[in-house]
Amino acid sequence: MSDVNAIYFQNQTFKNIAANYAKKYNLPLTTKIPITPFINISDETFISFDELSLKNNFNEGSFKNRIINFQRENLLKKAIGHKKKPYKKILDVTGGLGHDSFLFALLGHEVTLVERNTGLCILFEEALRNLPKTTYFEKAKSKINVLNENSEKFLNELDIYDVIYVDPMFDIKSKAGRSGQLNTMQKYLSDQSDVSITLIGGNFKRMVIKRPISFNQSKSLKPQITVKGKAVVFHVFLKNPNN
Ligand SMILES: C[S@@+](CC[C@H](N)C(=O)[O-])C[C@H]1O[C@@H](n2cnc3c(N)ncnc32)[C@H](O)[C@@H]1O
Repeated sequence: MSDVNAIYFQNQTFKNIAANYAKKYNLPLTTKIPITPFINISDETFISFDELSLKNNFNEGSFKNRIINFQRENLLKKAIGHKKKPYKKILDVTGGLGHDSFLFALLGHEVTLVERNTGLCILFEEALRNLPKTTYFEKAKSKINVLNENSEKFLNELDIYDVIYVDPMFDIKSKAGRSGQLNTMQKYLSDQSDVSITLIGGNFKRMVIKRPISFNQSKSLKPQITVKGKAVVFHVFLKNPNN
């Protein structure tokens, strides 16, 4: 897996923000263009790698529409067992760009986002920082805690959470509805490991795994609930189906 080597900024306006990330994530801070991959902190923060750039802007594109219409996220809502109350404690073990986590937070849930890639953690923090400062967004932001860790660390504490959410990277050739941005992310990470293989052995209450619709689920591991969309399917595993 590749990751950013440095925090770069050019415009003095972003000096303090960039310095805070450098301190928090223990990365060198520079105003000289570093070796790629690096993250450029600006009004359009991006990760630079292999002459490509990866952004995460919640104020534009298709994700903006999903944010506006978050109540229509019926597949996600069914998969996590969403009810208006009580809100759930969700552990998102494959944080990525934080899209799913942010939708969970908008729905009112308390989310711990775990992402092992430092560059992606910073991109997500930047996406949140650049949202309009409305009560609506501030409330959702306050419900998310970002951890730059390997999720396997949580194997022995999965039962603290109501839902463990897993969205492993899958092959883009499967035409499974991955956006251009996710394709770029896949090139940046160059990694397709599946943390659910480890975590499924843990003591969770509910585990939701997002798969391409064509996914061949092994017969020995049958989900209790299947939530099917056009391009993706959510496999829901319940440790105590009677609860
Ligand atoms: C397909 S992306 C998730 C996209 C995310 N659901 C979203 O809405 O943006 C998968 C992410 O999981 C991360 N990941 C994979 N294995 C991990 C692990 N063991 N611990 C933490 N993060 C992991 C990868 O770095 C990648 O960013």
